[in-house]
Amino acid sequence: MKTLVIGSGGREHAIVEALSRSPQVTKIYCAPGNAGIAKLAECVNIGVTDIDALADFAEKEGIDLTVVGPEAALAAGVVNLFNERGLKIFGPTKEAARIESSKEYAKQVMERFEVPTAGYRAFDNYEEAIAYVKAGKIPTVIKYDGLAAGKGVVVAMSLEEADAALRDMLLDSSFGKGRVVIEDFLEGPEFSFMCVVSGDKVYPLELAQDHKRAYDGDKGPNTGGMGAYSPVPFIGDDIKKRALEEIMKPVAEGLVKEGNPFTGILYGGLILTEDGPKVIEFNARFGDPETEVVLPRMKSDLYALFEAALKGEEFDIEWDKDAVLGVVLASKGYPGSYAKGAEINGLDDVETSVYHMGTTAKDGKLLTAGGRVLMVTGKGATLEDAHAEAMKSLAKIECASLFHRSDIGKAAL
Ligand code: AMP
Ligand code: GLY
Repeated sequence: MKTLVIGSGGREHAIVEALSRSPQVTKIYCAPGNAGIAKLAECVNIGVTDIDALADFAEKEGIDLTVVGPEAALAAGVVNLFNERGLKIFGPTKEAARIESSKEYAKQVMERFEVPTAGYRAFDNYEEAIAYVKAGKIPTVIKYDGLAAGKGVVVAMSLEEADAALRDMLLDSSFGKGRVVIEDFLEGPEFSFMCVVSGDKVYPLELAQDHKRAYDGDKGPNTGGMGAYSPVPFIGDDIKKRALEEIMKPVAEGLVKEGNPFTGILYGGLILTEDGPKVIEFNARFGDPETEVVLPRMKSDLYALFEAALKGEEFDIEWDKDAVLGVVLASKGYPGSYAKGAEINGLDDVETSVYHMGTTAKDGKLLTAGGRVLMVTGKGATLEDAHAEAMKSLAKIECASLFHRSDIGKAAL
């Protein structure tokens, strides 16, 4: 089988790696890919939103299955177009992907199907929004209603911070058209629950925990994620079961009922509150960096899982008991502005898996090419072992312009 993976980050690197383990998969293309992915797949220089070129390529090469990584490709309608052209693809239509791209739509779906989440209201007017915040409780959470690469959320610990966020999103329109969702602040440990979904069929994956803030001790701005691990020891099977029955299944079934069925990865960003698991956010795709710690633990054939899901067949996913923990190396300045093109050395000496998130190869050198650059992972019988392995590998990588968090997994270790 020939597959095409769309994307260029660590998530796609992990998807490509998992597909490369499938005995059925004979050829993997990745568009556009990166320097790490190029070792496992043939990278083709097509951008993730250039959907006509992607469909032309899939048709010309006789691709059996295309797998979509990033939300931008989904929002551009890559799945709609492939479906129209009779090309097999795994991912949601742009309408179904609104569960991620519109915070307000996600809230409406949760309200309709009684899925536990924080109370909220949506605003596009600054005066009304600030009046609502002043009348409510602090901390409060302000979310830009659209795609903002994981950076459109401000947990405001003071009225001043809330005001600055509202001004930024509604008056200065930092991310484009201004509309915000203001949410009640929830407290508890967070975890990521990704499920393969096909209409009302839900195939749960193992849990992971991400670290969204840029710096140690959960300080600093929100990022796309600075490190992750799987399994998550403090979320028991009972809680996972509740999350599946009370959150993931009702949403998948609800989307079918409202004529907007979801096929792809439904990612629940969940929080374990005193009243049980609740939704912080949904994504319509594999999480990054969660995918880099979950897929390496999957013993089953990922290609076969996608195929089974597309047909709505039963599929028992087998998992490795070993733990995986990964630390992101990001360019100094990320999630703000940062420089690219710094040389990375030492990777050849690393024995554990390193996923490339933003790299490029030039004149035989490996260079930084993004905000998040590498995800260095370790694997072991326990999270402690996995952590130690990751740290050993991390110490071998030389690049002056990268930084990382040194407390990934601390809550679980
Ligand atoms: P999101 O992009 O929606 O996942 O939000 C990014 C981060 O902001 C989450 O991982 C949480 O740590 C925090 N956050 C978002 N919504 C809430 C909420 N309602 N209560 C507390 N923290 C939140
Ligand atoms: N790591 C969180 C995300 O993929 O959105």
